[in-house]
Amino acid sequence: MDFEKLTRNEVLRVQRYIPGKPVEELQRERGLAEVVKLASNENPYGPGQGVLKVLEEGIGHLNRYPDDSAYYLHRNLARYLEVSERRIFIGNGSVEILYFLATLFVEQGDNLVYAMPSFVIYDIVSKLSLGEGIVVPTDDEFRHDLGRMREAVNERTKLVFICNPNNPTGTYNSESELREFMESIPENVLVVVDEAYYEYVQAPDYPQTIEWLDRYPNLILLRTFSKIHSLAGLRIGYSISHPELVGLLERVRPPFNVNSLSQMAADASLKEIDHLRMVARENSLGRNYITKKLTNLGCRVLPSQTNFVMAFLPLDAKVAYEKLLDMGVIVRPMGNFGTDMNAIRISIGLEEENNRLVHAVEDLLKNNN
Ligand SMILES: Cc1ncc(COP(=O)(O)O)c(C=O)c1O
Repeated sequence: MDFEKLTRNEVLRVQRYIPGKPVEELQRERGLAEVVKLASNENPYGPGQGVLKVLEEGIGHLNRYPDDSAYYLHRNLARYLEVSERRIFIGNGSVEILYFLATLFVEQGDNLVYAMPSFVIYDIVSKLSLGEGIVVPTDDEFRHDLGRMREAVNERTKLVFICNPNNPTGTYNSESELREFMESIPENVLVVVDEAYYEYVQAPDYPQTIEWLDRYPNLILLRTFSKIHSLAGLRIGYSISHPELVGLLERVRPPFNVNSLSQMAADASLKEIDHLRMVARENSLGRNYITKKLTNLGCRVLPSQTNFVMAFLPLDAKVAYEKLLDMGVIVRPMGNFGTDMNAIRISIGLEEENNRLVHAVEDLLKNNN
């Protein structure tokens, strides 16, 4: 049986997504007891206490289907964001919404414009779609080159993906840059701004795009509960957009795409203001610490607005990745992002995890000389 022959060409273009290495896998493979995973931009603190409490209660109702309309979460998220409920669409992770957008809009001959290196799912979604991806390299500082992305947009462009701040580089585009880009883009080109790391950003000139939604009906914002809210395992994210787009997304969404525990946990997490502030504060301390230490060790670390940093070590990144694995530290090699950049991406962990990473890099560089 030749299944490939039966398979759509678009699917054959796709290389499967490689997630960060799971802790148990490394423990098994290399017989290591103590492993630190700083590879998937997860939140090491976990969700707030109020979230854990509602999850305990929710477990008693798993025989029932979830509320398909996610009524309470819609209502409370709208209040939290100060937008109309009609603008919100909730997905099984924000990534699900990227797949829906390509399904909804991209026809044969259309194209999708996105940056490289950026979040790999844009490339996967684009290849799976009926259209073609137009890839625009990031600029010298590894930021989205919005001028070149604008030039790449043509009359067959349906979707533009902008990751702000960008994964895996941690860099961001300012309010004035993104504003200029939006002003220059025709209304029939949909611009998706993926703000998965929104709550970690500290830069004062980072765009507050929610305020732009009235002016740009073609603007779609993506946010997630996987990062600062620490609910990556429950898979829940959302978009904020023109209400008409929400109606269309509803047509392609499988029923009950967001499970009941996710809805309850996300709703409860919106009230965990102090906890979320603590996570952002600790993340920023950890990020400064890793950046400073690695810079002192002779690495180039890109300035980051997220819960990870991209670091260029003075040795081959693949070798560094493997050696760090031997020392029980999992990071993410940049090869996973479809580039040959000689860098690794390091997620910010707990204080002791960050220490462990810094010492491992120190040992690595010592032994390399
Ligand atoms: C830019 C970006 N968007 C989306 C996601 C994933 O979001 P979700 O877990 O909501 O699907 C990630 C996760 O790493 C990300 O880096």
